[in-house]
Amino acid sequence: MAALQAEDVNADDCLTSYTYIYSPDLLKNQVAFITGGGSGIGFRIAEVFMRHGCDTVIASRNMDKLKQAAKTLTEATGRRCLPLCMDVRQPESIMAAVDETLKELGCIDILVNNAAGNFLCPATSLSFNAFKTVVEIDTMGTFNTCKVVYDKWFKDHGGNIVNISATLGYKGQVLQVHAGSAKAANDAMTRHLAVEWGPSGVRVNAVAPGPISGTEGFRRLAGHSAEAAGVFQSIPLQRAGNKTEMAHCTLFLASRASSYVTGAILVADGGTWLTLPNDVSMLLGIASSQSAKL
Ligand code: NAP
Ligand code: COA
Repeated sequence: MAALQAEDVNADDCLTSYTYIYSPDLLKNQVAFITGGGSGIGFRIAEVFMRHGCDTVIASRNMDKLKQAAKTLTEATGRRCLPLCMDVRQPESIMAAVDETLKELGCIDILVNNAAGNFLCPATSLSFNAFKTVVEIDTMGTFNTCKVVYDKWFKDHGGNIVNISATLGYKGQVLQVHAGSAKAANDAMTRHLAVEWGPSGVRVNAVAPGPISGTEGFRRLAGHSAEAAGVFQSIPLQRAGNKTEMAHCTLFLASRASSYVTGAILVADGGTWLTLPNDVSMLLGIASSQSAKL
């Protein structure tokens, strides 16, 4: 349980203690390419994978952040972490990053599509470009990265894809039409690619997190204010999730522990989407009380 209790941090630090649930060599000598791996859930996925013997690539737009994250991850785990600059909206930048990965690390066994952008915004205030931007990062960015990694490596060697999704579209979460639509498309994409690429030895699955503390997503979606207002008491498990829990779900889907699973979406939200209030005025109230504090 130590791993789960040591979680409550806002900074992208590694865990100070870790108790293995899975075999420590579950991903021994594998290579994982993790988009958005320099912060939040992606950083913790990288850490947990590295603790299981994996080398990682963390790839996103901000190279300074990635370099610092890679240093922290390698110091904590002793595994190699290669920081690479790329924008999931720019296929050429993904191709360059994948080429560099294959040159430096020799293979890619796992792709985690974790990069995303989000903010709370009512549909009426959302500009055309705002909606488009989120769809371009979340949906097209996921497809772009899947396609480049498949064409350059998975097609001939097999592999494992885990998409980080969300439950926002399940009941039409307020102020989230952009991200909910984008992630719903990703869930469909997960099943389409699982069907098309299964015969090449590629499994494609998704993890759909609920509110995860210590993350940018939690901050932007008014998680702290919701927690303070007691909203999470209405969730079946009565608390926010943590990054290590998301990393363990991702590890399950990325490893041989789930060898006969493909096209699946693992909802890891403590039951949040089933019971969380979905009321515009309440959430706007919570969001505005948060922005007043920021
Ligand atoms: P985060 O730390 O902000 O992670 C998002 C990452 O995506 C950042 O590292 C960012 O790095 C990268 N990114 C953004 N745009 C990019 C682009 N165009 N190209 C390449 N990389 C890009 O947020 P998080 O909360 O951990 O979210 C991680 C994942 O979990 C997301 O898919 C999110 O939708 C999902 N999720 C989170 C929650 C939650 O409560 N946190 C709930 C449900 C789902 P750069 O700025 O360096 O590009
Ligand atoms: N509310 C409403 N609209 C917003 C917004 C907000 N909070 N933030 C940005 N937008 C709009 C912008 O106004 C712009 O639209 P416009 O041209 O019509 O004015 C559009 O979205 C694109 O914004 P821009 O800042 O140019 O995009 P970007 O590509 O530089 O950044 C974002 C993408 C907006 C998603 C940015 O927040 C980001 O990089 N996020 C990554 C981290 C993150 O979101 N983490 C949480 C993941 S759950």
